[in-house]
Amino acid sequence: MSLNSNRTTTGPRVIAVGVGPGDPELVTLKGARLLGEADVVITPVGDKGDGSIARAIVAGLVDPARQEIVEQVFPMRRDRAGLAEIRRASARMMAAHVAAGRTVAFVTLGDPFLYSTFLYVYHYLREEFPATPVEVVSGVSSIHAAAARADLPLGLADERIAILPATFEDERLRRALADFDTVVLMKVFRVFAQVRELLRELDLLAGAVYLKRVGLPDETVVTDLDQVRDDDLDYLSLIIVKKIR
Ligand SMILES: C[S@@+](CC[C@H](N)C(=O)[O-])C[C@H]1O[C@@H](n2cnc3c(N)ncnc32)[C@H](O)[C@@H]1O
Repeated sequence: MSLNSNRTTTGPRVIAVGVGPGDPELVTLKGARLLGEADVVITPVGDKGDGSIARAIVAGLVDPARQEIVEQVFPMRRDRAGLAEIRRASARMMAAHVAAGRTVAFVTLGDPFLYSTFLYVYHYLREEFPATPVEVVSGVSSIHAAAARADLPLGLADERIAILPATFEDERLRRALADFDTVVLMKVFRVFAQVRELLRELDLLAGAVYLKRVGLPDETVVTDLDQVRDDDLDYLSLIIVKKIR
């Protein structure tokens, strides 16, 4: 992958636009402008209900009368080969638009370079269509928005920060919790109960905050993890653990 492949900022291209975690006011000025200028706007839809969020965020920024708005389904659970084919097809479709002189904006919740669907598609774009120019427009990540909502600064002075996806095995999670001052646990909803028990065992519950659907109308911030019920668990949720010094 060429290091400066995403520096293209003119002409027909693919633009990955980070649109922030949910609040339309957290879209950057650049993201808003480029979404309005693109010929084609792709909003990825998973099977976790996050697709409609992307659509709602960009609704006021795009014009279906002038632009082609495409909803593209990226199922979350599927066999590897099936997923690869869907991602490859998306890359192929975007490359074809660009070859025909159109600019394609691919909407990403949060930031495009943080655990996003775009990164998989980007892989196939680089591999199979290396001549297709790509621009990446940073967005406000869920981590940054959540830290502000939880009133928990991520890092101060020499504090060390770790970000972990929820596939954490017990030992690796223990090590991260021991080694870092702030630990952000993404995609936590499926393993919430185990994580809560581990935090209890390590006496870290006092500095842990659970945040669900940050920036959306039903945003929830829970500072006592024992108050989190099963129906509070949501795909769009994370935990910030901060050691109290
Ligand atoms: C596939 S990752 C996407 C991350 C995204 N690219 C970002 O920059 O925030 C999905 C995970 O991000 C977190 N997430 C995304 N949006 C969120 C929100 N509005 N509130 C809380 N967590 C969110 C959750 O942990 C979720 O499981």
